[in-house]
Amino acid sequence: MAEATDVLLRLDRVAITDPLDSTELVQSISFTLRRGAVLGIVGESGSGKTLTCRAALGILPDRLQVSAGSIEIFGADAATLTAKEWTALRGSRIGAVFQDPGSYLNPSIRVGPQVAEVLRVKAGLNRRQARRRAVELFGEVRLADPDFVYQQYPHELSGGMLQRVLIAAAIALEPEILIADEATTALDVTVQAEILDLLVELKERIGLALVVVAHDLTVVAQLCDEVLVMRDGEVVEHGSCDQVLRSPQHAYTRLLISEHHQYGLDRFRAGATPRTEVLDRV
Ligand SMILES: Nc1ncnc2c1ncn2[C@@H]1O[C@H](COP(=O)(O)OP(=O)(O)O)[C@@H](O)[C@H]1O
Ligand SMILES: [Mg+2]
Repeated sequence: MAEATDVLLRLDRVAITDPLDSTELVQSISFTLRRGAVLGIVGESGSGKTLTCRAALGILPDRLQVSAGSIEIFGADAATLTAKEWTALRGSRIGAVFQDPGSYLNPSIRVGPQVAEVLRVKAGLNRRQARRRAVELFGEVRLADPDFVYQQYPHELSGGMLQRVLIAAAIALEPEILIADEATTALDVTVQAEILDLLVELKERIGLALVVVAHDLTVVAQLCDEVLVMRDGEVVEHGSCDQVLRSPQHAYTRLLISEHHQYGLDRFRAGATPRTEVLDRV
């Protein structure tokens, strides 16, 4: 059925536990990510957003475990995947970008060859093809002068440029899912908006499904179809973005929206999307 094959990732009542003290760090989180959809996860720091993403990527920190529920990824039960199968999926079918892009690059190697290496190892391109494709990808993520950037060391690039390099690496193998975990949090407001625009453009151009994680509702309001609001490891609200923004059911969501009113409005760029207008009317 077309409907069923559309599902790329499904979490069903997933709990994540630290077995040392049996604390449930994430409790009963469920969502379904379909091809081309954009899911937002918001909540304050420590609410379980990153652990949820890491569980979906098969990279939970040592010792933490998925202790209840199930994760289905590309039709497979995640619990049955071997380490080798996870490694094959990551990068090729599911990619991720995190906060602090600088820490994911080797400081002593130029950025271009680092992306080219991904293409050589994972896509089997030869040296020349990998270089050409990496430069092309730098253009696709709207880095000005891709040939020049290719030769730069990480410290020579701004945070926004580094994040574009990381996005280029994440989409190099044409994944179906891209997880952006606070990918724009460390960037200044204008650059943040540019990176979000880029994610939307990639979604539209290459049909990526996105999971966009932020502690800031403003980010989610701009691009998500559906939103999960997390607090203390629990989902307190889950619905379409419009529905959650128009009629938040939970006091915590209302608090996030009022914070948005206090701090968020001036952060929109001119020419707000219809969704931000919805938020402005709440
Ligand atoms: N490696 C770990 N070991 C034990 N507890 C952890 C670990 N990583 C995160 N936690 C705890 O899990 C909770 C959720 O963390 P996280 O998913 O990183 O939150 P968020 O991304 O929403 O800020 C926090 O209470 C955090 O302290
Ligand atoms: Mg986090």
